[in-house]
Amino acid sequence: MIHRVKATINLSALNNNLKVARSHAKNRKVVAVIKGNAYGHGLIPVAEALQDADTFGVTDVDEADLLAASGNTKPILILQGIIERADINRIAKVGYQVVIHHFEQLAWLEKELAKINLTKPLSIWLKMNSGMGRLGITPTDYVKTYQNLQNKAWCKEVILMTHLANANLIDSDLNQHQLSTFSKITQELPDSATSIPASSGLLAGIGDNTDWVRPGIMLYGSSPFPFSDEHLRREAFGLHAVMTLQSNLISIQNCKAGDNVGYCSQFICPQDMRIGIVSIGYADGYPSNAPNGTPVLINGKRTVTVGRVSMDMIGIDLSDLAEAKIGDTVTLWDDELSLDEVAEHTGILSYNLTCSIAQRVEKAYSN
Ligand SMILES: Cc1ncc(COP(=O)(O)O)c(C=O)c1O
Repeated sequence: MIHRVKATINLSALNNNLKVARSHAKNRKVVAVIKGNAYGHGLIPVAEALQDADTFGVTDVDEADLLAASGNTKPILILQGIIERADINRIAKVGYQVVIHHFEQLAWLEKELAKINLTKPLSIWLKMNSGMGRLGITPTDYVKTYQNLQNKAWCKEVILMTHLANANLIDSDLNQHQLSTFSKITQELPDSATSIPASSGLLAGIGDNTDWVRPGIMLYGSSPFPFSDEHLRREAFGLHAVMTLQSNLISIQNCKAGDNVGYCSQFICPQDMRIGIVSIGYADGYPSNAPNGTPVLINGKRTVTVGRVSMDMIGIDLSDLAEAKIGDTVTLWDDELSLDEVAEHTGILSYNLTCSIAQRVEKAYSN
């Protein structure tokens, strides 16, 4: 029996998904994006499992240091680069690769590295804001920033990168706009490696002619595309679920038509019903806005949630599941019931669902 709530992380599925990424990447190199505690799956075990990646992408120097301290020997790329000047000493000490997306970061590097006896020059990923509107040097300033970097003794190489805003919306005009903006500017810099696609660009073949790809969500077995498009669901790509989230049935109520279930009368029984109470709630990371009708599995059979999600409990409909009993395992998502389907019901991105798994949830790793 599960001790309340358990998230089981399937490391073979993770490796399968990296193979899928590699098959789409062909001979391009892969930055496996494991930022955000590997999208909630656990930074270190995920990195240890993904030994076929070329480089790991993390958010900041804190995540980079955690990974380095675990004995990791692969290159680590810090995707947000330098957040404060004090990061630079730590970056130089280990030799992390860093994204530069702002002039301020460049100025900080200049000043801080002048004080340090750097043993190995750094690999810099120069990010262009080609239309994402989040991070990056403008296309106008890009070439001169690149040339400035090329002249620095502390800079080993510059990798040219940009990030697509709408690659999961395959027909979006913004994709072509971003690709042409990036290629127009970078064709002046033919000697440097380039990097564009994350999972959606990689799977949809958008930004195909770059040297590096940066998949994240697909590694965790989720399709980046809208669930409404059946042809673009995870099965279509051969991706396997990495996280299985489970809990226990802790109570059963035999309700009458008109009875209330849970807070704020979000569910009133339309007829006599058998209602199960499961020991999982928003304090475990189950989304608080899951509406009545969100799918779950009990003993492998599908049913749905009823009533508002509480801090540590949800209600489920057991009316057609006479054999269900207290202590039975309830699955919130797994390989049968996809995270993407739960995301569709709740309006919460699959990224957000796994990242929200709470500290108190027991994590187990399987092969
Ligand atoms: C710069 C960059 N590259 C790659 C990724 C991975 O994206 P995805 O998880 O959609 O594959 C992210 C994620 O947000 C990112 O910010």
